[in-house]
Amino acid sequence: MAIFDVDKAMTVKLDYNLPEYPTFEEGIRRAPRRESHLTEADKELAIRNALRYIHPDHHAQMAKEFAQELAEHGRIYGYRFRPQGRLSGKPIDQYKGNCIEGKAFQVMIENNLDFDVALYPYELVTYGETGQVCQNWMQYRLIKKYLEVLTDEQTLVVMSGHPLGLFHSHKGAPRCIISNGLMVGMFDNQKDFNRAAALGVANYGQMTAGGWMYIGPQGIVHGTFNTLLNAGRLKLGIPNDQNLAGRLFVTAGLGGMSGAQGKAAEIAGAVSIIAEVDLSRIMTRYSQGWVSEKTESLDEALAMAQKHMADKTPCAIAYHGNVVDLLEYLYEKNVHIDLLSDQTSCHVPYDGGYCPQGLTFEQRTEMLDKDPDGFCKLVDKTLRHHYEMICKLHERGTYFFDYGNSFLKAVYDAGVKSICKNGENDLDGFIFPSYVEDILGPHLFDYGYGPFRWCCLSHNPDDLDKTDAAAADYIKAHNRRYQDYDNYIWVRDAKKNKMVVGTQCRILYQDAMGRLNIALKFNEMVRNGEIGPVMLGRDHHDTGGTDSPFRETSNIKDGSNIMAEMATQCYAGNAARGMSLIALHNGGGTGIGKAINGGFGMVLDGSERVDTILRMSMPWDTMVGVARRSWARNEHAMSTAVEYNEMYQGQDHITLPYVAENDDEIIRDAVKNLN
Ligand SMILES: NC(=O)c1ccc[n+]([C@@H]2O[C@H](COP(=O)([O-])OP(=O)(O)OC[C@H]3O[C@@H](n4cnc5c(N)ncnc54)[C@H](O)[C@@H]3O)[C@@H](O)[C@H]2O)c1
Repeated sequence: MAIFDVDKAMTVKLDYNLPEYPTFEEGIRRAPRRESHLTEADKELAIRNALRYIHPDHHAQMAKEFAQELAEHGRIYGYRFRPQGRLSGKPIDQYKGNCIEGKAFQVMIENNLDFDVALYPYELVTYGETGQVCQNWMQYRLIKKYLEVLTDEQTLVVMSGHPLGLFHSHKGAPRCIISNGLMVGMFDNQKDFNRAAALGVANYGQMTAGGWMYIGPQGIVHGTFNTLLNAGRLKLGIPNDQNLAGRLFVTAGLGGMSGAQGKAAEIAGAVSIIAEVDLSRIMTRYSQGWVSEKTESLDEALAMAQKHMADKTPCAIAYHGNVVDLLEYLYEKNVHIDLLSDQTSCHVPYDGGYCPQGLTFEQRTEMLDKDPDGFCKLVDKTLRHHYEMICKLHERGTYFFDYGNSFLKAVYDAGVKSICKNGENDLDGFIFPSYVEDILGPHLFDYGYGPFRWCCLSHNPDDLDKTDAAAADYIKAHNRRYQDYDNYIWVRDAKKNKMVVGTQCRILYQDAMGRLNIALKFNEMVRNGEIGPVMLGRDHHDTGGTDSPFRETSNIKDGSNIMAEMATQCYAGNAARGMSLIALHNGGGTGIGKAINGGFGMVLDGSERVDTILRMSMPWDTMVGVARRSWARNEHAMSTAVEYNEMYQGQDHITLPYVAENDDEIIRDAVKNLN
C-alpha cells in the first residue's frame, strides 16, 4: 500500500537499528498482568499499532516480541526500547535541547521513571498502580527526540503518550500539550478503557505521572498532614496550636502515594499503624525512615503503639498484613482508634489495587493472573467485610474518612447499597464523608489552598534551601489564618523532615496570591542568578484543576458535581495564558469515568516574559476553582471571591450567587403549589 516513503518523510523518528534488549534488574517491582478483553482481531490490531513506531525491516522480529508481551503482560510496553539501567532526573544542563522547556520536561520525565521514585519503572508506571508517563518505551524515546529539537516557537502534542508531532505556535504558547485517556462518553468506562490501553491507544496518566510533574510521595505528605491536623481540630477538638500527640491513626497502604501516610502522621505528632501486604513497599519506606517500626505481629504492633501513645511521642508502625485483619484485631482488643482511613488502590480494586483477606501479596498476584473472576469475587467479599468493621468501629466513636482512593465507591460497587446517602445509588454521595467533604474542601480548597510545587532543575540542594527560605519568609509576612501557620511550619521544617526522593522538589499548599507571589519571587531569584531555573506545577488534589465528584469536588452541592467543565476550562485557560506545559486526564486518582483533571508545568527562566505569564495564569489556575465553589454557595469560597473582586477591581470579576438563605419556606411552597 505504501506509495510514499514514510521513512524519508520524517526527520524525527526512532533510530533505524534496534537497541539491544535490556536486562531487568533484580528487586525492581514489576506491574501485574493487566486486563485487556481482546479478540483475536484486536490482538492483531494491537501489534499492527505498535509496529507503527518501527522500521518495516524489523517488523517480523518485533511483531513476535510485541505479541509475546501482549500475551504475558496484557499490554505492549516495548521493553526492548527501554534504556539499560536506572533513569533519573539529572541537572538540566546535561540534557540536549533547543529551548529550556524541552530540557526541563526531560528532567521531569526521567524523574518520573527513576527506580527510587516510580512504582513499576519497567512498565512506565509512576504511581497509583496504573499511572503511566506514556504507554510504551517507543513513545518515551520518540518524546525525548522531539523534546531535544523543540524550539520556543513550537508546541509538542502528546495524546495518551503518543507524540503526535511538533506544530509551530509562538513564544507565549505552551511548549507541550498533553491529554491522557480522554474517551467519548459512551465508551468512558473501565472495560472499554482496558481494551483501548491494550490496543495501544489509551494511557492512564493519573495526573502527575502522565503530566510529568510527580515529585515522589512528598507531594501527598503535605495534603495528608493538613488533613490529619484538621481532622483532629474538627473531630477530636484539638486546639489550633496543638498537634495529634497521643492519638492513634490507623490506615492501609505504603505504596507510591499511600507511603506518605506514616511520615505525615509523624509530622502531625500522631501514632499510626499502617497495614501493608507487600513487604517490599514496607522495606522501601522503612529504609527511607518514613516508617520507624515494622512488624508481622499484631500484638507487637499494638504494644508499640500503646507505648508511644502513653509517651505522646510520634511513631509510624508498619504492620505487614491485611488491613482487615488489623481492624478485626483492634476491635476485639477494644482499642480506641481516633482517626481511621484507607489508601489501598481502590480506584482499581480488581486490577490488583486491593488485596483480598486470606491471600498473601504473592498469592494475589498469582490469582490475578490465573483466576481473575475468582479474584474479583474475593475482592468484593473483603470490601464488604472491611466496611462492616469500619461501621462497628465508627459506632465506638472512631472518625473514618475516605482519603480519595475511591474506597467508598468500591464498597458500593461490591454491592453495599446501604453505604449510599439515598440508600439506592451513589448520586447523592455516601454516608461516610470523603475527607474533602468534611475537611479539605471547606478548610483549604474553598479558600484556594492547594498543592503548589516546584522542582529546582539545577539538581542543587542549595537551590531548594534558598527557595524553601524565600517561601517561608513570604508566608510569615502574610500569616492570615491557621492554614498559613500550618504551611509555614511545613516549609520551615521541610528539610529537617528529609522528604526529597529523586529531584530537588518541594510541595507547599498555597492559595492563589501565595502561589503567584512565591512564583514571582522565585523567578526574580533566577533572574538575579541566586538559583538555577525552576519548574513550577501542582498535582490534581486542588481547588480548580479537577472535577471529581468522589474526591476533589465532593463538597460541591449544587448538582454540578457531575460536570467536568471546571477542569476543562482550567486547562484551556492555562493554555491561553501560556503555561509551559498543560495536561488533561481522565480518571485521576479515582478511576476512569470518575474524574477529569488538568495540570500544568511552568518553567521559570528569570525572564520578564515569564513574570507576565505568571501574573495572568497563576491566579486563574486557582481562582477558577474558587469562583466555581463560590457559585456552588460554599461560604469560604464566597468570602474569598468577594476579596478577589475587590483586589482585582476593573480587571477580573467573579459572578457571585445570591444565596436563598432564609427562603426555605418560599421555595417549598413554590414547589408544593405546582402539585
Ligand atoms: N487523596 C489523595 O490526595 C490521593 C493522592 C494520590 C493517590 N490517591 C489514591 O490513593 C490510593 C493509593 O495510591 P498509591 O499511589 O499509594 O497506590 P499503590 O498501589 O502504590 O499503594 C497501595 C498499597 O496498598 C497495599 N494494599 C492493597 N490492598 C491491601 C490490603 N487489603 N491490606 C493492606 N495493604 C493493601 C498495596 O500492596 C499497595 O502497596 C490510590 O487509589 C490513589 O488513587 C489519593
